[in-house]
Amino acid sequence: MKKVLVLNSSLNGENGNSTKLTNTFVSQLTEKDQVTITQRDLSSNAIAHLTQTEMAAWMTDANERSDEQKALAAISDELIGELNDNDLIVIGMPMYNFGIPSTFKAWIDRIARAGITFKYTEQGAVGLVENKKVVVLAARGGVYQGSDIDTQTKYLKDVLGFVGMTDVDFIYAEGLAMPGAEQSLEAAQENIKKFVAAL
Ligand SMILES: Cc1cc2nc3c(=O)[nH]c(=O)nc-3n(C[C@H](O)[C@H](O)[C@H](O)COP(=O)(O)O)c2cc1C
Repeated sequence: MKKVLVLNSSLNGENGNSTKLTNTFVSQLTEKDQVTITQRDLSSNAIAHLTQTEMAAWMTDANERSDEQKALAAISDELIGELNDNDLIVIGMPMYNFGIPSTFKAWIDRIARAGITFKYTEQGAVGLVENKKVVVLAARGGVYQGSDIDTQTKYLKDVLGFVGMTDVDFIYAEGLAMPGAEQSLEAAQENIKKFVAAL
């Protein structure tokens, strides 16, 4: 049975366009396959910014951690465990101020951990998160796909690839603050249906 992790980051909860896209994905997938779905809302259940104290907890041997350090290390351990436990990662990705939501960045800061999800060798960095398929469902007010301004897509490919997740597809709903927004959202939902049918 396929195990699916759905990560949402919209400030608008269930009304968010990116959430609507992940909901479409999940409803199509559950109609088609027997799957286990784990949902994590990084906006309503936000993770704090990474701090020096939390990083120090990672660096401390697990047997020597104080109670505070145990609690801090558990944040990243849980998120990495959840990631490793799933095969398909579905990311609802709003564009906020030309980038990813800061709440999603806080997730990245916890799952990118030296010696656990990547390591450095003489040949350079090697990602240790293997056998994942990732689908990014991107919602944007403007239209940027394929242009130099779309640094969000490049960043996500780079950072996910860095930890080993190199099989990453993108489906875009763009122009959602422009005339024709409804049609753009519907077109993206159709693309999701085709994508899921081909899985
Ligand atoms: C704080 C904020 C910043 C935004 N910045 C951008 C932006 O830089 N480029 C863009 O195309 N749209 C921008 N938008 C519009 C969102 O990308 C659009 O509303 C999209 O639907 C967001 O996803 P969501 O509905 O799932 O929250 C911004 C929206 C908000 C609330």
